[in-house]
Amino acid sequence: MPDTLSILTGEYERLRLAAGHDAIELDLGCGKGGYLLELARRFPDRLIIGADVMLGRLRKIKRKAERRGLDNVMLLRVEAWSLLPLLPDGVLDRIHILCPDPWPKARHRAHRLITSELLGRLAGKLTATGVLHLATDNGPYLETMRAAIAPLASYREDREGIRDAVEIQTDFERGFAARGVAVGHLSYRREEQLV
Ligand SMILES: C[S@@+](CC[C@H](N)C(=O)[O-])C[C@H]1O[C@@H](n2cnc3c(N)ncnc32)[C@H](O)[C@@H]1O
Repeated sequence: MPDTLSILTGEYERLRLAAGHDAIELDLGCGKGGYLLELARRFPDRLIIGADVMLGRLRKIKRKAERRGLDNVMLLRVEAWSLLPLLPDGVLDRIHILCPDPWPKARHRAHRLITSELLGRLAGKLTATGVLHLATDNGPYLETMRAAIAPLASYREDREGIRDAVEIQTDFERGFAARGVAVGHLSYRREEQLV
């Protein structure tokens, strides 16, 4: 599986995404990759991209994908904002941002990944009917996610967008479930109108 793992520095040309897939999904902040590996196993005709800043985690995901014979996985070592200019517009059928670091302390809130600005920019990367899937175990962060998306006319809530994946749990989600902590999921479909 050559070129499964790429280290992106944010300086180069746009990513070349191989044609011939039924759909392309991005797991942004994929962590240990349990979610994307399961997606890749269930949907071999889709290209599943995992992006994270932690190279060690990505290397482990690559080894797991190889052992499982998954040839529809692409891994990117890249920071979320740096990925934006490298992604072509209108190509992603679904973006997952699942259990992002919650930064619960008030003085750390500025580190949170989810903002209106990021979600607005991501809308441009989705296909015309693409889906944005968000999840968190942190109640206040869930409300922050809803508030971040509320002013964006480029999305409308649509639970159907994640119907084929509702029972797949991320690694963090499994840990939370074992401790009896529920994870809330949000699903939005892109509207034609972009803001
Ligand atoms: C709490 S973990 C969740 C991982 C996985 N989504 C899950 O639910 O099991 C958050 C992940 O996001 C990654 N991350 C945090 N900030 C990021 C950023 N700005 N760009 C890319 N990845 C980021 C971290 O390295 C970490 O692996």
